[in-house]
Amino acid sequence: MKNPQLRVLISDVEIQKRVTEIGAQITKDYKEGDLILIGILKGAFIFVADLARAIHRPVRMDFMGISSYGKGTSSSGEVRVTKDLDTSIEGANIIIVEDIVDTGVTLSYLIGLLHNRKPRSIRIAALLDKPERRLRPVQAAYTGFSIPDEFVVGYGLDYAEDYRGLKDICVLSEGEES
Ligand code: IMP
Ligand code: MG
Repeated sequence: MKNPQLRVLISDVEIQKRVTEIGAQITKDYKEGDLILIGILKGAFIFVADLARAIHRPVRMDFMGISSYGKGTSSSGEVRVTKDLDTSIEGANIIIVEDIVDTGVTLSYLIGLLHNRKPRSIRIAALLDKPERRLRPVQAAYTGFSIPDEFVVGYGLDYAEDYRGLKDICVLSEGEES
C-alpha cells in the first residue's frame, strides 16, 4: 500500500466502555453451566483477553485459527482451519469471539463445524460488524460496534499482519503520493 493513512474510528476509551458493557451482559445471561470463550485467531486475541476480564463468572478459554483473507483487504471466500480447539465443547455453552463480521462466510462455516460437536448452546460475540457486506445470514448475540464498509486495523485487526497492536480502531486508506 502506498503512503498508508490512519484515521481513528473508535478510540480505546470507547472500546473499553463497550467491552465492559458486553461483559456485564454476558455475566447476566449465563447464570449456570460451563462457559467457554472461543477466540478466533489472530484478530480476536485482544478483544477476547479484555472480554474475559469483563465477565464476572468463571470462563474457560480456547482458540481456533481460521484463515479466510489472504494478505490483502478483500476476502478470498475460502475458509481454512489452521488451528483446532484443544478441548471438547460437548455440553458446554460456547461463545465464539470474533474481531469482525464482514461477509459472514467465516462465521457461518464455523457455526456449522462447531454445531456438530454438540455444545449446549452457541452464540457469537463480535467486536465489529459491517452489515453492508453480508453474504451469509450471520447474527451476533453481542456486537460491539456497527461500522461502515471501510477497512479497519488496530485492537487486534491487521493489514498484512501490521497494526494489530494499535489501541484504537483506525480506518486504513491509501494516501496521496508525496
Ligand atoms: P468474513 O468471513 O468475510 O466475515 O471475514 C471475517 C474476517 O475477515 C475477520 O475475522 C477479519 O480477519 C477479516 N476482516 C474483515 N474486514 C476486515 C477489516 O476491515 N480489517 C481487518 N480484517 C478484516
Ligand atoms: Mg479474523
